[in-house]
Amino acid sequence: MIEMAKKTKLDKVMEVSIRRGFVFPTAEIYGGFAGVYDFGPIGSLLKEKLLKLWTDMFVKSEIDPPVFMVDGAVVLPFPVLKASGHVDHFVDPVVECKDCKEEVRADHLIEEETGQFVEGLDEMELTKIIRDNSINCPSCGGELADVKVFNLMLGTHVGSKRSIAYMRPETAQIMFLDFKRTATSMRQKLPFGIAQIGKSMRNEVSPRKGLIRLREFGQMEIEMFVNPDRINEHPGFEEKENIKLRLLTREEQKKEDTKILEIIAKEAYEKEILPNKFMAYYLALETLFYTKVGIPWEKFRFRHMLPEETPHYSGGNWDLEIELEGGVIEIVGNAYRRDYDLGNHGKHSGVDLSIEDNGKRLIAHVVEPSFGVERSIYCVLEHCFRDKGYDRDWVWFQFPRAIAPIDVEVYPLMKKDGLDTYAWEMYKELKISGFNVLYDDRGSIGRRYARADEIGCPFCITCDYETLREDTVTIRDRDTMNQIRVKAKEVIDILGKLFKEEIKFEEAGELIS
Ligand code: GAP
Repeated sequence: MIEMAKKTKLDKVMEVSIRRGFVFPTAEIYGGFAGVYDFGPIGSLLKEKLLKLWTDMFVKSEIDPPVFMVDGAVVLPFPVLKASGHVDHFVDPVVECKDCKEEVRADHLIEEETGQFVEGLDEMELTKIIRDNSINCPSCGGELADVKVFNLMLGTHVGSKRSIAYMRPETAQIMFLDFKRTATSMRQKLPFGIAQIGKSMRNEVSPRKGLIRLREFGQMEIEMFVNPDRINEHPGFEEKENIKLRLLTREEQKKEDTKILEIIAKEAYEKEILPNKFMAYYLALETLFYTKVGIPWEKFRFRHMLPEETPHYSGGNWDLEIELEGGVIEIVGNAYRRDYDLGNHGKHSGVDLSIEDNGKRLIAHVVEPSFGVERSIYCVLEHCFRDKGYDRDWVWFQFPRAIAPIDVEVYPLMKKDGLDTYAWEMYKELKISGFNVLYDDRGSIGRRYARADEIGCPFCITCDYETLREDTVTIRDRDTMNQIRVKAKEVIDILGKLFKEEIKFEEAGELIS
């Protein structure tokens, strides 16, 4: 008998995500396009809510230092990426099978086959490990050629002279290029931040795992520009200093049984575990953000990158990693980039990028938190996913209300007797009031509730025969499946309070047994 391969959580999450309009494989009707996904109608709303929350927390509510949003170009000229180091150093090691010609990431293959951590080794060292361990092609078992390096940027040619340009591999470069203009146009002194949300592109050798390794993906990045002499003066730090962080230090990574250090941001900074106060501030804010979007606190940690993983110019890199069923993945890169970027762009462009602070001209240092949009969304999907049999006969998403793509669905019990007209009017009213609403009059009410659960909709309103008699409707709560009956004219007010978590669901109306 052929045994069916057990579906992983990733398989299940991707299946429901594609079926219910969260994501669609790009160019699916032509067989797809590896490493690229579109957000569908439901996924676009989820993304919009996640980005809005990020913007509110990391940009709009930042008082001192302020953070300014920019929206820069996706295609950049050769000199920018030469100066940034991407032309020469943004490479991955690949190895080709001599038989089937398949190419794979050499470092990933070695790590999978031997468990050896090979970050930072060059092509010759990697080739030697492949030979010493008799590693063959993972697809056909054929012999592998020598390891080569492969630049990850997607290049293009622009204008009639076809000058070399690249699709940006990170949004960050725009913020360095716009530093001087932002400082002068916004009349800013240090410290201040520049943020951006946008697309980045990398020609990943083996895009895989759904939304996790893509060739086109979103980033939410902040470059915080600071006077290096004042990197431990953050006016807003006190507000966040008691947030408890989960840290994986370098010492612990050397041990077999690694332990997470649970420590408040203030202490992590004071004990010099973290390189500076700005870094401690961002780790605390990220902890708040990811718990708000539905990732349990104990499922993520900040890992101090090992020396071989850390760029030579860095004053310390701490990655936020989230535990998934298939392993741990990096979601946010936090880097103390010092003056590397502004220094290089100043040198290569010939433009003075120094700034005056405290009576002294200096090149600002940079602390950079860099978030992946799709990876964050995938982690939210996996952590909010409830499998069939968890507590009901269908899969569902337990999104926090603040990021649920659809806030509320409205149904008539039957498509007749004026119930449909009543429900349609309520649907319109809710839409006008700014809720993300869907109207559904197809299938049994039970099926409609199950469909709403599949997209993680927190509340469903049903108009039934009592509605016509009493002007009341029922509201169903996704998490408990409890229902309350409320006055129709109070629905908007009640939903508003439920979303602000000002009232408990069971106390918002008459509980229906
Ligand atoms: N400016 C710094 C920078 O780009 P990075 O660690 O290369 O740092 C930051 O990228 C984040 O972008 C990662 O933590 C990840 O969430 C996301 N990211 C990077 N490469 C990705 C890929 N191929 N597919 C999806 N997300 C990716």
